[in-house]
Amino acid sequence: MRRLTIPALRRRKADGKVTEPIVMLTAYTARQAQLLDSHCDMLLVGDSLGQVIYGLPSTLPVTLDMMANHAAAVVRGSYHAVVVVDMPFGSYEASPQQAFASAARLMEESGAAAVKLEGGIAMAETVEFLTQRGIPVMGHVGLTPQAVNVLGGYGARGRSDAEAEKIVSDAKALEQAGAFSIVVEGVVEPIAIAITQAVPCPIIGIGASSQCDGQVLVTEDMLGMFERVPRFVKRYSNMAESISAAAETYASEVRDRSFPSQDQTYPSK
Ligand code: KIV
Ligand code: NA
Repeated sequence: MRRLTIPALRRRKADGKVTEPIVMLTAYTARQAQLLDSHCDMLLVGDSLGQVIYGLPSTLPVTLDMMANHAAAVVRGSYHAVVVVDMPFGSYEASPQQAFASAARLMEESGAAAVKLEGGIAMAETVEFLTQRGIPVMGHVGLTPQAVNVLGGYGARGRSDAEAEKIVSDAKALEQAGAFSIVVEGVVEPIAIAITQAVPCPIIGIGASSQCDGQVLVTEDMLGMFERVPRFVKRYSNMAESISAAAETYASEVRDRSFPSQDQTYPSK
């Protein structure tokens, strides 16, 4: 199976509505990518790895090196899905030139096919600059976690008319600048539906609407790795419980010397 291409994904919404919803999950490691790859159209190396992998309080301290290393692992572990890598906070906002240098580094070091960046109208010029120079860009509007200090928290966006209009304009501006797809995160459902209908490129929802052109979740969230998750997460597994239970059994078998047994031991000769 050849790797999906960005034009092929973009064409799924050729007539204003996707033929089939687009499936996206985050991946940060090679093994995770291997397990998710055949089920997904896109794998996102999200800067959510700051919290999920590194235990950081937000995505703000995430660096280009972290993103490049994890993206390279995900590219090595996948052969089907389009790999999109998040541009970390501070690596792209200053100018289109800064963004190009950072995005080119991420793509050179990892082999990822596209980058994602947060922001709307303010980032449109940068999206155009990158796209015209060979870097496909995915947008991200609504709840944009890198702006947590401006937004004041991680609550849903678009509750006032002014805010709703701004988010729709942001999405339109990104698409017009050349974004091949846009993540819409943490918005009230009517805004998500309005954007999906108004914007010609695929709209990927998270905390948005089932009417979006596709969905994305943080894999560890949907696997049930965390006790506390946002309202929009559905847990499809309870990995936290499985891992604790396995560690508990291992610990007791080490302590009572039932592990390793003969099966796990090299006999003499
Ligand atoms: O970093 C991330 O995982 C993301 C998704 C939640 C869209 O940006
Ligand atoms: Na992100």
